[in-house]
Amino acid sequence: MFITLEGPEGSGKSSQLPDLAEFLSGQGWDVLTTREPGGTPIGDQIRQILMRLDNQELHPRTEILLFLASRAQLVEQVIKPALREGKLVLCDRFGDSTLAYQGYGHGLNLDTLRIMLDFATDKLKPDLTLLLDVDVETGLQRKRKEDEWNRLDAYALAFHQRVREGYHELCRQEPERWRVIDAMQPKEAVQLALRQAVMQFLQEKIND
Ligand code: TMP
Repeated sequence: MFITLEGPEGSGKSSQLPDLAEFLSGQGWDVLTTREPGGTPIGDQIRQILMRLDNQELHPRTEILLFLASRAQLVEQVIKPALREGKLVLCDRFGDSTLAYQGYGHGLNLDTLRIMLDFATDKLKPDLTLLLDVDVETGLQRKRKEDEWNRLDAYALAFHQRVREGYHELCRQEPERWRVIDAMQPKEAVQLALRQAVMQFLQEKIND
C-alpha cells in the first residue's frame, strides 16, 4: 500500500507523518516512512542543491530534473522494495508536488510533466493521497516561525496560491485517490482526520 501526503507550505504534513505512521503500526501495518526530495543518500544530496537559498539562478527546468532524479532513486532504492515486501509506504510528497509546484506554480506544461513523471517513477502511483489543505498566508507564516526557510518558500505569494489551487484541481481530476484534510484545524483534529481518512480507505480496500 502506497500512501502520500501533499500540501502547500506550512500545511503541517511533516509533523503529522510520524504520528500517522505510529498509529498505523499500532493497527498492525509494517510501515515505512520516507520523504521527497530526499529519502536516499543520493536524494538527500540533491535536496541540498534544491533548498539552498543562494542557488537563486536554478532554472525551473533544472529544478524539475533534480526533483525527478531524487524521485527515481527513491522509487527504485526504497519504495518499490518496500512495497514488494508488503509494507505500507507513507511518503511526504511525491509526483503530485511536481504537478502542483512546477506545473501549476511555475506554469510548465502539464502533459510534458506527466510524461516525465511516468519516466521517473516507472509509472508508480500512490493508492491514496492526503491533501493537507491550508490557506497560503497562514501556511507561510507558520513556516517562517517553525521551520527552515528555504529557497522555494521565498517564491512570491501568487506562486504559492497557484500551487494550492493546483492541488484542488488535481483532487477534482482524480477524486477517488484524494482525501482533503482541513489543516487549518488544531493539530489534534488534523491528526484524527488523517487517521480516519486512512482507516476508512483501508477498510474499503479490504472490502473490495
Ligand atoms: P518540504 O520538505 O518542506 O515539503 O519542502 C520541499 C519543497 O520542495 C517544497 O517547497 C515543495 C517543493 N517541491 C517541488 O517544488 N516539487 C517537487 O516535486 C517536490 C517533491 C517538492
